[in-house]
Amino acid sequence: MSYVNAKLQSLVEWVDDRFPLTAAWKTSASEYYTPKNLNFWYFFGSLSALVLVLQIVTGILLTMHFKPDASLNASGVPVAFASVEYIMRDVPWGWLIRYMHSTGASAFFIVVYLHMFRGMLYGSYRKPRELIWIFGMLIFLCLMGEAFFGYLLPWGQMSYWGAQVIVNLFSAIPLIGPDLSIWLRGDFVVGDATLNRFFAFHVIAVPMALLGLVVAHVIALHEVGSNNPDGVEISKHKDAKGNPLDGIPFHPYYTVKDLVGVVVFLFVFSIVVFFAPEGGGYFVEANNFFPADPMKTPLHIAPVWYFTPYYSMLRAVTYPLLGIDAKFWGVVAMGAGVVILFFLPWLDRSPVKSIRYRGPIYKTLLGIFVFSFFILGWLGTKPPSYEFFGVIPGGPVAQVLSAYYFLFFLTMPVWSKMDKCKPEPERVTG
Ligand code: HEM
Repeated sequence: MSYVNAKLQSLVEWVDDRFPLTAAWKTSASEYYTPKNLNFWYFFGSLSALVLVLQIVTGILLTMHFKPDASLNASGVPVAFASVEYIMRDVPWGWLIRYMHSTGASAFFIVVYLHMFRGMLYGSYRKPRELIWIFGMLIFLCLMGEAFFGYLLPWGQMSYWGAQVIVNLFSAIPLIGPDLSIWLRGDFVVGDATLNRFFAFHVIAVPMALLGLVVAHVIALHEVGSNNPDGVEISKHKDAKGNPLDGIPFHPYYTVKDLVGVVVFLFVFSIVVFFAPEGGGYFVEANNFFPADPMKTPLHIAPVWYFTPYYSMLRAVTYPLLGIDAKFWGVVAMGAGVVILFFLPWLDRSPVKSIRYRGPIYKTLLGIFVFSFFILGWLGTKPPSYEFFGVIPGGPVAQVLSAYYFLFFLTMPVWSKMDKCKPEPERVTG
């Protein structure tokens, strides 16, 4: 053993006597047994963690130069908007940091949506992984809040009017609505008070909740172990030492495999950041390059793409009910669209977990589900008057697809049981 190695070893021993460093490394990496058949769908967990770190690091750097101030500077431009322009033009590498952060928000939702969809493909939310899913859903809610608060900060036209539309939705709640929306804004209109509180939520409150939830998510995962594309439990078959026969240590096998995902992700991410940072108006809307102007409402206000499926559900509700405005029921539908996902572990009654062994009903209905989610997302980016080939107006299409979204989940307990599933194998295949 070389001199340096010996010194390092004694340093680790010194730490181990005071802190369980080696023990933690063993239980969570070098002796943490993971199914040997994980495929590319399993990249998206570590990629979500990578994007979280990227967002935090670029966010801290942005915060060093950003000013949450809605007052006008000497040139008549809001200070917050001007500080973002300053970052883009004068701060060394500021443009890169800002575009990494704004593109990173969309990248976050892409990897998280794919990560969630993997859960639906392989039944990863099923017993005993219900809590991993619940923590995941809480993360998803925080992410939505984080993205919403963040979008207000550059104080552009879409920041301003988007926040105005969403906070106004709360005023549709009977009795308390109007007061509630004033309380949320801290003013009668979206203003400096709103900007300051959204800033506080965006840089401190929500990131802290997110980090705590991610830790809980991973602790819950390590308690029960990963599911896999066959949806069978590897802990059922162990060797003499008590290690799963179909498991391999997370380190080095999956640390190296996940690196492949990281390289591919960073490659694609860099192409977008360097060549199309606004994502064709889907990642940063064109109108947001104009400073917020309370006197000038943009012709068409739409949220960023990751909210649009739920925004479509909101707009699909056009009938008042029980004497309460349709807008209120729209908000309820939008909220229910997210909340229903929490119950997935208990709605799915299939005898098997993985899509590999599910029957035709699940495969067909899941296919239609994905298709309708995309169409809802696409319709959500369009103005309410949008007409498809002049024949199918967005309204009825969004209504049918939203109804499908809910029926898919609500009827799942029935059809998931009826489906003609193939028998699950005893051990993982391949
Ligand atoms: C910041 C966001 C998130 C991070 C950093 C994260 C991280 C991870 C990691 C590292 C894994 C293990 C690797 C893998 O299975 O891919 C994992 C597993 C899992 N995550 Fe997440 N996750 C996030 C969000 C979510 C969300 C929003 C959901 C669903 C609502 C979710 C549901 C799950 C499930 C069910 C598993 C177990 C998968 C299996 O064993 O097959 N996660 N997560």
